[in-house]
Amino acid sequence: MGFYRDQVLPRATNVVLANREFAKIRKRVASRLSGEVLEVGFGSGLNVPYYPPEVERVLAVDPATVGRRLAEKRVAESPVPVEYLGLDAAALPLSNDCVDHVLVTWTLCTIPDVVRALAEMRRVLRPGGQLHFVEHGLSPDPKVARWQDRLNPLQRSFAGGCNLNRPIDRLVEAAGFEMENLRTYYDQGVRALGYMYEGVATKSEDGLHRASGVAGCGAGEGPGGAAPARDRGARGPGTVGP
Ligand SMILES: C[S@@+](CC[C@H](N)C(=O)[O-])C[C@H]1O[C@@H](n2cnc3c(N)ncnc32)[C@H](O)[C@@H]1O
Repeated sequence: MGFYRDQVLPRATNVVLANREFAKIRKRVASRLSGEVLEVGFGSGLNVPYYPPEVERVLAVDPATVGRRLAEKRVAESPVPVEYLGLDAAALPLSNDCVDHVLVTWTLCTIPDVVRALAEMRRVLRPGGQLHFVEHGLSPDPKVARWQDRLNPLQRSFAGGCNLNRPIDRLVEAAGFEMENLRTYYDQGVRALGYMYEGVATKSEDGLHRASGVAGCGAGEGPGGAAPARDRGARGPGTVGP
């Protein structure tokens, strides 16, 4: 990663994605989180103020470690503990079936191997666990979609690999999630840049991954390895509902 991608972009994102409109969306998307939460693309922690009190712990994944510095104040002020877990959503250092929810905001556009990353999110979610997301992506309007295709190379080079034209709903469903609810709408800005997908999807029952003999949520970075696992045996799929 170069200086621009490593140092400039996370700071720019910290400003651009901190507006009032996005704050309302963040609050909505985070409102149904509880228990053990994995946040993919944690960035500078702009979702932290919106974690509801029912959240016990957030495990954060993001390759841009400068975001951690930018997030320091938000994390310090949050009653919800945040632990940095790793750098790449496509290879999550967690055992199967161990988190209650996954939160992802404006990140599926950027993850290079988004198919693998979604498969990983599904793998680590407990049965019945949910993915909460807001993302921009492919517009259903062919005219707008054509512009998205045209602008995509430019967007990718200036916005750290961010794609304008990913079909977020189809990607989520293809990864083995059932859409519980989905709202799509245009953001207030340029249509090609802001077709939003906001929703909740549940880990479908088909083809569930079985826990690989590892009890609980092994989480943590570095040689110290996993943080102590909570006993998750008592928690049934019924703990999360609409
Ligand atoms: C547009 S920013 C959004 C940040 C944050 N989610 C927010 O809403 O403010 C996209 C984020 O995705 C992160 N990202 C890129 N590749 C990733 C990967 N392979 N795994 C996890 N996060 C990734 C970037 O570092 C960046 O922080």
